[in-house]
Amino acid sequence: MTTRKVYIKCFGCQMNKLDSSLVAAALRAAGFEMTDKATDADAVVINTCSVREHAEARVFSHLGHLKHMKKSRPGLVVAVMGCMAQRLGESLLAHEAVNIVVGPHQIPQMPDMLTAALETNGPAVRIAVTQHIRTPDDAAAAEHLDAFETAYDSDENHIKSQAFVRIMRGCNNFCSYCVVPYVRGPEVSRPPRAIMEQIRKLADQGIQQVTLLGQTVNSYAYSAGERTYKLADLLEMASEIEGIHWLRFVTSHPGAFDNSILNAMARLPKVCPYLHIPAQSGSDSILAAMNRRYTAQHYLDLLAKARAIVPDIAIAGDFIVGFPGETDEDFEATAALVRAACYKNIFVFKYSPRPGTRAEQKLADSVPSEIKQQRNHALLALQNEIAADYNSRFLGRELEVLVEGLSKKPHLNNAQEAGHPQLVGRTATDYIVVFNGPESLTGRFARIRIDQTSALTLFGRPV
Ligand code: SAH
Ligand code: SF4
Ligand code: F3S
Repeated sequence: MTTRKVYIKCFGCQMNKLDSSLVAAALRAAGFEMTDKATDADAVVINTCSVREHAEARVFSHLGHLKHMKKSRPGLVVAVMGCMAQRLGESLLAHEAVNIVVGPHQIPQMPDMLTAALETNGPAVRIAVTQHIRTPDDAAAAEHLDAFETAYDSDENHIKSQAFVRIMRGCNNFCSYCVVPYVRGPEVSRPPRAIMEQIRKLADQGIQQVTLLGQTVNSYAYSAGERTYKLADLLEMASEIEGIHWLRFVTSHPGAFDNSILNAMARLPKVCPYLHIPAQSGSDSILAAMNRRYTAQHYLDLLAKARAIVPDIAIAGDFIVGFPGETDEDFEATAALVRAACYKNIFVFKYSPRPGTRAEQKLADSVPSEIKQQRNHALLALQNEIAADYNSRFLGRELEVLVEGLSKKPHLNNAQEAGHPQLVGRTATDYIVVFNGPESLTGRFARIRIDQTSALTLFGRPV
């Protein structure tokens, strides 16, 4: 039999990218070949996101293409995995293009399901497995997922010398707007032993930077006997692994963010001085309606504390504009928080009601879309102004970067430098640095002297 080819298309966050890479590795181990063209594939797997309506709309549009493609290739098998698979479950099978629906906790079943579908009459197959999200005390199930994770983690999990390692699944926060707790289930911390084993394996494969992943990494807690391991303990343990140079973690929640994490960052040279810690809003009444459980002042105090303990720390944040009931004054409070916070960068999202969430059920989506759009623009413009100004302090400085590879969209600023292509690297503080250099630097550390800066990017030359 010829080798079956699979095309995986991924939407959504780092969690989904990690899941896609695990599934790809498991499929390879089961004898499949990966392809980057849907037109070459015997099976297409779509990994989906539900966080905003737009994310789901993109998946439906993709499914529309596949439905069309199936007219000329009736044997094509289409599987939908990820958050939208979990949210919509069996109802997705009503879509003509869809054969298989797999929730985030059933991804270990993907190779068997694709094999079965391709060996039988593909188009006739209609299966959905999105069993109830596993609870923290469902130990056998958690171990099964964990084993899958450790077994199929590999260097194809991301850019050259960098890898992502999940330290926890799910989320217990139930921010009123957010679908994640419903589609990813309750918070479950993975055992430190499994995490360290995985990082050691990655280090042996040449990985130099590991990013620890979770929806709220600062609430990581794993009890073994008398001892409870926290995020700071993981950072300490991972720091001892030879070959790993940089350690990061995302995302943090501003509630219950304890000093031990900041102290670890200050004390351990491998832990990058970078925090992605979304505020979501600067208005206390909106924060309360969002069920974020902190005030703007608490948030700013936390940033001040972080800067006192880790002087060079860079901070990134997320904001939602146009949350139900958000007035001009509320938005002004958000702008004031952005001014005060001095972020490296921010991500701004227009509120999108998610079915089943408390905000969607209890609050009318009252802010018109033009206002959401205006606030989105205004907040980004404000941040750009602040960052453009702040970043000029890097001029003339020498920064260490981990080189990620060729710049995807060449920047005009120094594209003319002959002989070498334009490369992109990131500093420990997560700044993007663009410079010309040999492509062989990819995956390695380089020192760059900065000679030009903008709001989002620093430009320079290798030293
Ligand atoms: N667990 C992470 C990220 C969750 S999703 C955290 O809590 O920080 C990433 C971002 O999407 C969130 O930070 C939030 O800003 C945004 N988001 C989540 N739900 C949304 C919704 N319904 N509408 C618009 N943006 C949303
Ligand atoms: Fe969603 Fe809030 Fe959990 Fe983040 S912390 S995943 S925004 S519920
Ligand atoms: Fe990530 Fe989207 Fe799911 S942001 S956790 S893929 S809903």
